[in-house]
Amino acid sequence: MSQPRVGFQSRIGFIMAAAGSAVGLGNIWSFPTQTAQNGGAAFVLMYLLLAFVLAYPALMAELTIGRAANTNPVSAFTKLTSNKGSQAYGRLVGFLCIVCGSLILSFYALVAGWMVTYTAEPITTGLGLTEASSWLTGSSTMRNLTFTWLFMFLTVWVISKGVVEGIERWSTRLMPMLVVLLVVLIAYVLTLDGAEKGLQMYLVPDFSQIWNPQLMVSAMGQAFFSLSLGAGTMLIYGSYVKKEEHLPKLGAQITLIDTGIAFTAGLLILPAIFVAEHNGITIFDASGKLIAEDTLVFTVLPALFNSMGNVGGFVAFGFFALMTIAALTSSISMLESPVAYVTEEFGLSRKKATWLVGAIITVVSTLIVLNFESLFIFVIVLTTKYGQPLLGLMTCVFAGWLWHRNAILKELQHHSQAIEAGWFWKIWPWYVKFVCPVAIAIVFLNSIL
Ligand code: TRP
Repeated sequence: MSQPRVGFQSRIGFIMAAAGSAVGLGNIWSFPTQTAQNGGAAFVLMYLLLAFVLAYPALMAELTIGRAANTNPVSAFTKLTSNKGSQAYGRLVGFLCIVCGSLILSFYALVAGWMVTYTAEPITTGLGLTEASSWLTGSSTMRNLTFTWLFMFLTVWVISKGVVEGIERWSTRLMPMLVVLLVVLIAYVLTLDGAEKGLQMYLVPDFSQIWNPQLMVSAMGQAFFSLSLGAGTMLIYGSYVKKEEHLPKLGAQITLIDTGIAFTAGLLILPAIFVAEHNGITIFDASGKLIAEDTLVFTVLPALFNSMGNVGGFVAFGFFALMTIAALTSSISMLESPVAYVTEEFGLSRKKATWLVGAIITVVSTLIVLNFESLFIFVIVLTTKYGQPLLGLMTCVFAGWLWHRNAILKELQHHSQAIEAGWFWKIWPWYVKFVCPVAIAIVFLNSIL
């Protein structure tokens, strides 16, 4: 027999867990990198726009479907309709979401492993272990394998402990520390030479670039990645939320926290890029293209910390430790939906399911590490630029066309009957039915044609 399902114990626990899922490497590694790559402020504007007008409604679809069905993504869609065709469609979408989320975790663990190495480096340097330090910050396959595995192990360990003890406890305390450290670092970087040029790139848009199809498709992918959409993550987190919560408000809070932290991280990284450039580090090539997108923050941030003199080592340690934790609250969220699927559909215990799924994903990660040149960027583009928005679109189609409108309203009204008269219910149902699918499709077709 399956165990009764345990959900999040408190509202703040849910917000922290969902924000913990949303806030991660996407905010501090991917968002600033993509901003630098796509010309700066124009990308920021488009990203913010798409986060609110496309990603937030899609987030609401996932949260609502999850809470109404109270089960894993594959059975969730099936449970909400009795039409055979819709059920088959829903099963497919749910399953693809789980596959997409698992693939994302397989490269995410590698990047998160790099965060761990940069946390350890200040320690080995402080102890005078020069060789260890250069191994940690080098790019050997052995180093990548070691830390990818270590990070996967941490992820599996937290998830095997369950929703309350694992996810909720780990997510609640550490997020605020990350924000404080970011703000302190921004204040510092803005005093350095070169920072102003970075701020300018970040905040003054070149309006002719905003509607560039490639920029739009990257911004859309980034918005979906950052809100953890199209991977069953928010659906499964939604399934652990109490019925009396006001879902649209929770969703809005998560979107605000997530975009707020991404924006704040940009205020640090973009100026830091130009400070590094001012100090003779080559970041852009002659044609103005970013040189190494995957390692940008590992070039720029350590250079910044070095410039701080003696305290630099401590700051570097603190920063990368918090990044590791932010990555962990995200990676556990990616593992949760495949684990819930395996426990609920195949009756495995949570522990067994976690180790099984974790092992499969670790194998995929290992393949990526061993074939880095051909697979790393490929898997990222496949899952984040295409997979997530398309699955988000398919989820919106389900919520807008296949799930009964009255059933959705009833689900939201668990909080209060008044929701029917509020702004959300006036806009969202037709919005998710027409605007989201069409807009997502247009951005795609535009970027392909
Ligand atoms: N949103 C997280 C970040 O910005 C990553 C993440 C967590 C994620 N769960 C996800 C991305 C599911 C895609 C799908 O780092």
